[in-house]
Amino acid sequence: MNLRAILIGNSDGIGLAATKRLLAAGWNIAGISRSESPITNTSYHHQVADVSAAEYSGLLNKLVMKDPVDLCIYFAGIGQLLDPLDMTIEERIIDVNLTGMVRTAAAVIPQMVRRGQGHFIGISSLADELLSYEAPSYHASKAGVSNYLGGLALALKPKGVYVTNVRFGFVDTKMAKGNVQPFKMSVEKAVDHLELCISKRPIRYTAPKISIPLVKFRKLMMKLGGK
Ligand SMILES: NC(=O)c1ccc[n+]([C@@H]2O[C@H](COP(=O)([O-])OP(=O)(O)OC[C@H]3O[C@@H](n4cnc5c(N)ncnc54)[C@H](OP(=O)(O)O)[C@@H]3O)[C@@H](O)[C@H]2O)c1
Repeated sequence: MNLRAILIGNSDGIGLAATKRLLAAGWNIAGISRSESPITNTSYHHQVADVSAAEYSGLLNKLVMKDPVDLCIYFAGIGQLLDPLDMTIEERIIDVNLTGMVRTAAAVIPQMVRRGQGHFIGISSLADELLSYEAPSYHASKAGVSNYLGGLALALKPKGVYVTNVRFGFVDTKMAKGNVQPFKMSVEKAVDHLELCISKRPIRYTAPKISIPLVKFRKLMMKLGGK
């Protein structure tokens, strides 16, 4: 097997666990994040970069021009509770979670379309359907991620390129903060779901499914005026 993947935001959490799993399965991988990667493997190459930096798109373009990729997974994400007295982080959350993913797609997908093959996966969240008074920028960014990936999937399927929107509930990483985290998954379980997505290439994938009724209930409560 000589498949090549590029993973964005993979120095920690779900991205790091996915990198290890794909390397074990024989993939050649390039990774990007702001910190160095703990991985040392001859099939792995890491670049330190920030997805919101001006030079990010150029770096990515160079990487995919050199070696075309079969798979790109965008993991990079941040979230923070809203502080109405200091909202400077709000723009950055949208920039990293949504705009960074769109920048990544713009660098990677044309090369996939030219080859008539490839798979782009973005990591969204069950939060994409919910309004949030606590973290509106995170929820808005994920609503944008899911909406964008859905449209992109429809546009690219006839060209042989697959796009998957993965909507996770709580996953046990440093990002999952807060006291109430129903049906939280282990990172390894999240990567099991990702492996399934890589082989089946669905347009939209939600995990764990048991969280779906909970989200529906939350939406109903919000409609009725609750938080
Ligand atoms: N954990 C959950 O409960 C959960 C649930 C649903 C969806 N998700 C989504 O899953 C994805 C991965 O989250 P996680 O839980 O694995 O979080 P995590 O452990 O905090 O990992 C986030 C990764 O993103 C990278 N990153 C953050 N900002 C970046 C930037 N500006 N440029 C480049 N890389 C950046 C981080 O690396 P550096 O800090 O080195 O840059 C890190 O490798 C996120 O999109 C998140 O929204 C998570």
